[in-house]
Amino acid sequence: MNVVLGITGGIAAYKGAEIISRLKKKGIDVKVIMTENAKQFISPLTLQTLSGYPVYYDTFKHATENYEIDHISLAKWADIMLIAPATANIISKVCHGIADDLLSTTIMATRGQVVFAPAMNTNMYKNPILQDNIEALKKRGYMFIPPAKGLLACGDVGEGRLAEVDDIVAEVVGLLRQRDDLKGTKVLVTAGPTREYIDPVRFISNPSSGRMGYAIADACRKRGAEVHLITGPTNIKTPVGVHVYRVETAYEMYDAVMSLFGQCQIVFKTAAVGDYRPDMVSSQKIKKDADDLVIRFVKNPDILKELGRRKKNQILVGFAAETENIEAYANKKLKEKNLDFIFVNDVSKTGAGFAGDTNGGILLCADGDRLEMSITKKEIIAQRILDVIIDRKLDK
Ligand code: PMT
Repeated sequence: MNVVLGITGGIAAYKGAEIISRLKKKGIDVKVIMTENAKQFISPLTLQTLSGYPVYYDTFKHATENYEIDHISLAKWADIMLIAPATANIISKVCHGIADDLLSTTIMATRGQVVFAPAMNTNMYKNPILQDNIEALKKRGYMFIPPAKGLLACGDVGEGRLAEVDDIVAEVVGLLRQRDDLKGTKVLVTAGPTREYIDPVRFISNPSSGRMGYAIADACRKRGAEVHLITGPTNIKTPVGVHVYRVETAYEMYDAVMSLFGQCQIVFKTAAVGDYRPDMVSSQKIKKDADDLVIRFVKNPDILKELGRRKKNQILVGFAAETENIEAYANKKLKEKNLDFIFVNDVSKTGAGFAGDTNGGILLCADGDRLEMSITKKEIIAQRILDVIIDRKLDK
């Protein structure tokens, strides 16, 4: 578990020493990058002694000494890059793609999670320019540990103090733990809509985009699971490192799910499966000669209910898209389908359910517990659902 600690130029830079020593006590390896301004506040020698590695601040030093390209090797080494304290300058540079020193180039090159812990004068922190940049970075997946309120070094009182070292360390340790808490687990996720064909060019479907299911698949993969994603037609990018199976109809999804179910330990049925299909599918395009067209629909198999019947030790997580009596209907599905959890989204609410980037709802547990999740990005909802399942079902 490797953390690159980026220290930028603020009075809280001295707290970097405590962050290093606390992370090291938890068995985490720490390498430090300092900006030139940070060196005004704390000596590299202190940080070198605590981390056990040379402190990096010169983009070209090792390139000329031993052909090492530090910003690439550090970027690859880091599971997490923690920037604490993070000044308005580094946050805004990263937001706008500026990479003009060792720290900003390393942040640009890393595939690890980047976490900023801002610290600065309260007016600087509240400046709308900085706040816009923070929001833009959050949307791109960068994380922030918000500053605390209190007396600042400049004498002002307000928001801007570096968050407590305890909180910063807990956040980093939590993130590192997340990286492999599903290691060795096989997960099956279904996502997207199904299409029930009327003829070769027409079908009935629903507005599911697949985003919620893809977010679950990606979150499980990032936590170390082997992920099998069965997806209806979508036009979003498939998550990296996930086994993908493409289906169209509910029957195709049924077959794909049943063939993988026996080898998986957790199933997320996020797909919006068509409940009915036309009882006859015309092999040729239906002509519009008749004034009306009557189509009889017959019921599709309920895939999740069948899984509930077959389940041995698997954890079954259903999703429910409801527009009224959402909790009562979802509870009924939880029981009837023999589920461990069901996440119900009120799809009549703006920001919840189909298509958009956000969701919100209630996670109902088979033991009667309920957890409300307010509207936020689908990636965050996915992580929260996983946190609950892992805490209650997998934590030994
Ligand atoms: O894809 P997005 O645009 O991101 O939208 C996400 C979502 C709204 C589709 C998702 O959050 C969601 O709610 N998915 C379930 C939608 C749904 O079909 O709900 P349901 O109440 O009809 O079904 C309940 C459960 O039974 C679901 O887990 C469903 O996958 C499953 N089911 C339903 C019918 C069927 N024939 N077979 C099933 O397995």
